[in-house]
Amino acid sequence: MAALSVEVANKAGACYGVNRALDMAYACSPSAASTTPMPVYTLGPLIHNPRVVAELAENGIGVVESLDLAAGGTIIIRSHGTSPQVINEAKDRGFNVVDATCPFVSKVHEHVRTLGEEGYKVIIIGEEGHAEVEGIRAWGGDAVIAVVDDPAALPLELPEHVGVVVQTTQSETCYRGVLAEIEKRCADVKAFKTICSATQQRQQAAAELAQRVDVMVVIGGRNSGNTKRLFEICSEHCPSFHIEAADELQSSWFEGATRVGVTAGASTPQEHINDVVSALKEL
Ligand code: F3S
Repeated sequence: MAALSVEVANKAGACYGVNRALDMAYACSPSAASTTPMPVYTLGPLIHNPRVVAELAENGIGVVESLDLAAGGTIIIRSHGTSPQVINEAKDRGFNVVDATCPFVSKVHEHVRTLGEEGYKVIIIGEEGHAEVEGIRAWGGDAVIAVVDDPAALPLELPEHVGVVVQTTQSETCYRGVLAEIEKRCADVKAFKTICSATQQRQQAAAELAQRVDVMVVIGGRNSGNTKRLFEICSEHCPSFHIEAADELQSSWFEGATRVGVTAGASTPQEHINDVVSALKEL
């Protein structure tokens, strides 16, 4: 097969918050010779990427789903954030807490808390049950009256003073649609558009590249929602393949192709992208 020309989307892979959380976690690992109290755990998988979770485990950073399962030491809070209750409980129980909540998510926590203090009832535009949304809800406490990702799902009765925040990974379209309906029905609306541009930028760059190449390779955890979305977007434009690691590449996918595009979800570290690009060039 003739050598493939490989191009990586101009926005691809780990976002600022994920890179920061990874750096903070590795700085706690036993091999970093840090003064961090051992053992070290992340509360839930640090990111939706099984390979990264396995690499962290090799570096002495395990995963616990609840504080009860941790044998003391250090607890790392992942970039999605968590509730203030969990952070306080971990501190009260004597854990060293390393809070790797993405600063953009912390900003949402701050808004939701302040809105409650100012007397607003809060609507979170986001996906019910998602870890980030549950954390945001907890920071708002009783002030939060609904979590919706569709105008039709808004409560029938809305109070006069409504505050609005949005899950960082929601789309602009969803935000605008729900907000327009709230504004129609409430006298006083104070909204914070807390969408993070990382997801949208990756989607736009993937779509743009997928239109110019013969085949797309999408790298990221099979359990990563944003990676799956990138795969769907690319598949609309050209044959596309979702992999977690370079050893899954099959030369038959590229028969007759000359240009290959590569993109990666917001939880895929740069090294994983580099591995795939090198493997593609050697096919
Ligand atoms: Fe933070 Fe945005 Fe990533 S909110 S975790 S930088 S997708």
